Amino acid sequence: MTSTLPDQAEKIRNRAALIQVIGGYMASQALRFAAELKIADLIHDGVDTSATLAEATGAHTPSLHRLLRMLTAVGILTEPEPGRFGLSAVGEQLRSDSPDSLHAFTLFFTDPALFTSWQQVGHSIRTGEDAFHHVYGKNAYVYLSEQPELSQLFNYAMSQESRIAAANVAAGIDFADVKTVVDIGGGDGTLLRAILSSHPHLDGVCFDSPSGVAEAPGVLEEAGLSDRCEVVAGDFFSAVPADGDLYIIKSVFQDWDDEPAANLLRTVRANMPATARLVIVGSVLTDTATTDEPVMFLTDANMLVTAGGRERTESEFRTLLADTGFTVRSVGRNAAGPLSVITAVPA
Ligand SMILES: C[S@@+](CC[C@H](N)C(=O)[O-])C[C@H]1O[C@@H](n2cnc3c(N)ncnc32)[C@H](O)[C@@H]1O
Repeated sequence: MTSTLPDQAEKIRNRAALIQVIGGYMASQALRFAAELKIADLIHDGVDTSATLAEATGAHTPSLHRLLRMLTAVGILTEPEPGRFGLSAVGEQLRSDSPDSLHAFTLFFTDPALFTSWQQVGHSIRTGEDAFHHVYGKNAYVYLSEQPELSQLFNYAMSQESRIAAANVAAGIDFADVKTVVDIGGGDGTLLRAILSSHPHLDGVCFDSPSGVAEAPGVLEEAGLSDRCEVVAGDFFSAVPADGDLYIIKSVFQDWDDEPAANLLRTVRANMPATARLVIVGSVLTDTATTDEPVMFLTDANMLVTAGGRERTESEFRTLLADTGFTVRSVGRNAAGPLSVITAVPA
């Protein structure tokens, strides 16, 4: 009988850690399939054994069992007894019907369009160009505008991603001297829904591309906010609505490299009243990468590969804002859940 040599224990742990990263695509594609089958909804509803889940989804029982075990091993499911599965707190987010759902988010970010672009990550690293454009011959937003179903999934995915930040923004920003909030790149209106619902004196304008705002009228109507919120379609590089008191731009700048990001800011600057405030909500990269906040660095790389954009450090945001006619008033790191809030005014 042999046992592991003491000096090998760390090597074995390191090997397993590397293999887990190598298997990232396996876990994410397994997760995608589980999301397609709505495995989490079924488990939540009590369909929780390999056999009953296979029956409900038309899957091959022993193979589904292996997939479920794998999802348990990476922390999505639990297996309290052999062959019976539950949802971990992380896996709960895979339910399509919970308020914290990331079900659409999972489906969008594991979509073949993004996956195929990532297979060409080398193109981005060698050239600095986005691999999505290299593969599909167009920018991701042009592609989305031609794919209504995928665009709807994207808008819903963004809405799911935004919910925690939206609640924090609605609670954390001082709207006392504000009448009209303009959300630039406001998507389906999730952020404005949170802001207007908790501040009855406000009205809003949800501004985005035609495909970006497609779901907004429904979202705002369902929340009873249609009469307080206008939905406007347009191109934020050309013009944005005037007459707002507060312009909010959430999770938009990471999509763009510095030149288009500066163009967008100049457009906002040119259209906003001199007395208005600009609030940018998004990730602010730490100056060095650590394992503490991997999501922002994953997103930064994802933006390079799929959009030609970038996340930014605080000093990069300050330079961008100074170059485009703004003075930074405050930077609230992680003030909106994992996202930061930068407030600026016309210089
Ligand atoms: C990453 S999403 C963020 C959406 C929303 N602000 C949120 O946080 O959930 C970026 C948004 O920018 C919009 N967008 C991209 N290009 C645009 C353009 N040229 N004019 C207006 N909106 C645009 C997209 O349609 C999309 O809704």
